[in-house]
Amino acid sequence: MSRAIRILHLEDDLLDAELIARRLEEDGMNCQIERVDSEAGFLTALQHGGVDLVLADFSLPGCDGLEVLQLAKRVAPDIPFLIVSGVIGEEAAVDSLRNGATDYILKDRLSRLAPAVRRALDEAGLRRHTKSLGDQLTRAQKLEIFGELAGGVAHDYNNILTIIMANSGLLMAGLGEGTRLHKHASQIEYACAQAATLTRQLLIFSRDRGRDATVLDLNGVAKNAESMLLRLLPENVELVVTLASGSLAVVADRGDIEQVLINLVLNARDAIHSHGTIRVKTGSVKKGGKNFVFFNVEDDGSGMTREVKARLFEPFFTTKPEGSGTGLGLATCRRLVQSMHGRITVESNTKSGTRFRVFLPMAEGAEFSQVHAPASAEMLQGSEKILIAEDNHMLRDMMATQLEELGYEVLQASNGMEGLEIFANHKSKPPVLVIADVALPLIGGREMTRMLMKASPDLRVLYTSGHTDQTIAGLGFPLSLGDVLRKPFTLSELTHRIRKILPSAK
Ligand SMILES: Nc1ncnc2c1ncn2[C@@H]1O[C@H](COP(=O)(O)OP(=O)(O)OP(=O)(O)O)[C@@H](O)[C@H]1O
Ligand SMILES: [Mg+2]
Repeated sequence: MSRAIRILHLEDDLLDAELIARRLEEDGMNCQIERVDSEAGFLTALQHGGVDLVLADFSLPGCDGLEVLQLAKRVAPDIPFLIVSGVIGEEAAVDSLRNGATDYILKDRLSRLAPAVRRALDEAGLRRHTKSLGDQLTRAQKLEIFGELAGGVAHDYNNILTIIMANSGLLMAGLGEGTRLHKHASQIEYACAQAATLTRQLLIFSRDRGRDATVLDLNGVAKNAESMLLRLLPENVELVVTLASGSLAVVADRGDIEQVLINLVLNARDAIHSHGTIRVKTGSVKKGGKNFVFFNVEDDGSGMTREVKARLFEPFFTTKPEGSGTGLGLATCRRLVQSMHGRITVESNTKSGTRFRVFLPMAEGAEFSQVHAPASAEMLQGSEKILIAEDNHMLRDMMATQLEELGYEVLQASNGMEGLEIFANHKSKPPVLVIADVALPLIGGREMTRMLMKASPDLRVLYTSGHTDQTIAGLGFPLSLGDVLRKPFTLSELTHRIRKILPSAK
């Protein structure tokens, strides 16, 4: 049976009140009625809350009906207000409707009451729903704008990060390992790597977000994330990470797994009000004949009520105060886990806390990808002729200087047109490799290299890009990850990629 309708009834005549209550009951309405007989009592009850609908007699001694209505609309504007009166002149009725009354019913026509109450409640429900849709839409629009902005700056931002990373790499190489300054330079590089992760997180709602699914060891991801997670936790919260022995192979984007882990740990942190412990645990299980790897995030915090548990994956559902939670954390987690063909589950109670579990299909018989393995900091030498086509001049200069120092012969172009011209001027001994930003001005990187390859079919190409796979693919060429060096990159990564493309190392 549905919940009783909570009615606040302003009526001084006890008999009338009983008559009205009985009439509602006879008409099949399940009501819980609180009667008040004064303006003051009425206001107190209304402010107290928990009222679905107001019935009010308009001809109470010492009490102006219109004034009561106006007060009610100020205190609880969304609650339907029905006038039930013995007499109400036409003028007063119109006046009351103008002032926000939902309807008026004469006491000698009580057959109209139940239908009027039903209609008023339906309309109020619809208004609430529309309003909440409107709120969600505004938030969704804000996020969309934010995503677009983030996507727009990502390219420039990644160029800057590449420059910082490359320079810190050069500093480290020049200073030699073990020195105090070397440590500072390596911290710059570490901070850049974190900033790069952050860009990826910011881009999660932008259309420009790409994925780099590779074979990863879940243990490795959790272990790497530990130091970052520790920085997010206050002193009163302890983090205990327990990794299963061996490695746990999974095909996924490292950023996606980190994102899920971070969101779950942040929620656990918010659920701990004084002291507490967050446990992160990895492992593997067999379910329905299939192997899964999993990670748990468990807290001994406040836990959740059944109502919260039922809604927690809904986008924009949050119990946190305005401004401190968007309610998108778990919706994002679920979306990401589903995109990895996995499952996320939750167990929670208000006594012992909460445990989230994320199951992902185990990658069987797969080799761990080297893409994300920390590249050796060694710079690899060579002597081939290379054309660098890059519109960010600082980045281009730095790459050129470094490659020249390593023995390469380097030509530079700031846009696609210039690249074509330079190539034409070096016909007798053309470059063997073009390093081209995908999004070059005038003539794009892909267009330029396509034209160059027509003239020199043996030409090798390495694309660089601050955008992501989807955007690159959107630029109109099939994407093979091997051809694109994602910004930000270190100079040693660049030289390793060059030597992979030009295997005849000198
Ligand atoms: N570990 C937890 N313990 C208790 N409640 C939780 C826990 N995790 C989530 N919740 C509940 O689920 C709600 C939704 O979580 P979600 O991560 O989607 O949004 P949020 O944390 O409120 O906001 P945001 O993640 O955008 O900052 C939270 O507001 C909270 O009520
Ligand atoms: Mg959250």
